[in-house]
Amino acid sequence: MDQGLVIGDDVRTDGKWGLSPRQLGRIQGLVVSGFAHLPVTRALFLKLDRPGGGWLKALEKVAPVTAATGRLNRSTAIAFTCAGLKRLGLTDTADLSAFALPFREGMHQPDRRRRLGDEEKNGTVIPGGPLWSGDASATPQAADVLLLLYAVDETDLADWCNQVMEALEPEGVSLVRHLDLSLRIDPDGRAREHFGFADGFSQPVPYLAGPSTADPAGGHAARDPWHGVPMGEVLMGYTNAHDEAAPAPIVQRPADIAARHPDLKPDGAPEGFLDLGADGSYLVVRELRQDVAAFWNSLDAAARSLGCPGIDADWLADRIVGREHDGDLLCPAGVHAAVDGQPANDVGFFREDFHGLGCPLGSHVRRANPRDGLAATEADRSALLNAANNHRILRRGRKYGETIQNRLEDDRKERGLLFMCLNTDIVRQFEFIQQTWLLNRNFAGLYGETDPLLGPKGPFTIPKDPVRLKVEVETYVKMVGGDYFFLPSLPALKFMADLT
Ligand code: HEM
Repeated sequence: MDQGLVIGDDVRTDGKWGLSPRQLGRIQGLVVSGFAHLPVTRALFLKLDRPGGGWLKALEKVAPVTAATGRLNRSTAIAFTCAGLKRLGLTDTADLSAFALPFREGMHQPDRRRRLGDEEKNGTVIPGGPLWSGDASATPQAADVLLLLYAVDETDLADWCNQVMEALEPEGVSLVRHLDLSLRIDPDGRAREHFGFADGFSQPVPYLAGPSTADPAGGHAARDPWHGVPMGEVLMGYTNAHDEAAPAPIVQRPADIAARHPDLKPDGAPEGFLDLGADGSYLVVRELRQDVAAFWNSLDAAARSLGCPGIDADWLADRIVGREHDGDLLCPAGVHAAVDGQPANDVGFFREDFHGLGCPLGSHVRRANPRDGLAATEADRSALLNAANNHRILRRGRKYGETIQNRLEDDRKERGLLFMCLNTDIVRQFEFIQQTWLLNRNFAGLYGETDPLLGPKGPFTIPKDPVRLKVEVETYVKMVGGDYFFLPSLPALKFMADLT
């Protein structure tokens, strides 16, 4: 379910990627933590009925946006669509043109819909087309803001949400849509997505690269050999995988306004310029509805039609994901042994499973992160691992809807994943994964296949010795809505609250 972090709040090393307290105090907590200690969340999609950012001051009183410094019993994250920023008071030509093109165009721009596979004819979108986005001309429901409230239990969350809406409605903020999200961690400490797979194990591990971004007060997080990505892949203003500062939108304001926001002054820029992007990120959001009964019924039928001893629906599902139900990564000998009770993740495919005899070449995890598996020779291995790490995303999604009682019985209840991921270059990171890996019909030498978990109906090859297997998979996941959001730093949020 891509919630990002299952066991603890932090990924590795000192847990905060070597960022200093000052840097952590500027960054939204959602970036460095999935708030895994807070199992329930409500995603509020809001519409701004009045211009200006004054309502953010009302929000500050009831749900202050959480910094990356602490661990609280209530935590808040906030992100804005392009239309939302405009409503706050950023202008089209002078301000918004500084933001990345995909963010400005939105996820539902026709060419982008085609590249992301979000066309009804594919069967991967709900009937009637996507329901919501940030663009009122593209979908029936349009949201300007995504407000995420994380709490310890449902009662507290419900009370808190009421307080928040009571504070915001008089400020001209209305609720367009909401989703209740949860982790529902098993007694064994694992959160599972609705098909039943433990999720959230494999994440990039950001490290500070380049002298300009290291704060002497910070710790030192060494580069993780398998999953290390420069900080600029998840936070704007820091050195990214191209060895340059991840581009951040800069706006111009008269000196008196700029003077009120000294924290936003970019290095080297003339007086009056403000860096709105530094310590912020882009949040990709996609509501993905899962048809659990269709998934398991179709795999039951596929296993029966194969008629091979030992192959049942669970065996096929493991191959579709590339990990077995509890999260262990498949390999030719079975699964990679767990490390310290956690599924092994520091492994490649080139040496361990070149032909995909364990973890199929077209499985979800292999497409979503091929690691070194696309190398043609041993000599290319490290270059291809580095190349794959130029396309990593930090996943922060959570599931919505009840767990199904009987996985073979369609209870007609809606459930799925609110997929959320952070990245600074939407085209090179999220869109590349979706288009060039997940939906690529010729990925890793395959022919006419796409991701068996997310793609349209089609074949799925399972390499096997002596003869490979081929099964037909249906469409189990449909896009309900989504868009690109800007997740500001806390100083940028203060500036936005001053806009009129
Ligand atoms: C309902 C939709 C989805 C489901 C049920 C799902 C499920 C899973 C599961 C079970 C894993 C393995 C656990 C792990 O490695 O953390 C996984 C990994 C992953 N998924 Fe998804 N996923 C979904 C959608 C997506 C989408 C839309 C993307 C990106 C466009 C994506 C990208 C990834 C990535 C990058 C990994 C980690 C791969 C690795 O590093 O080994 N997933 N997903």
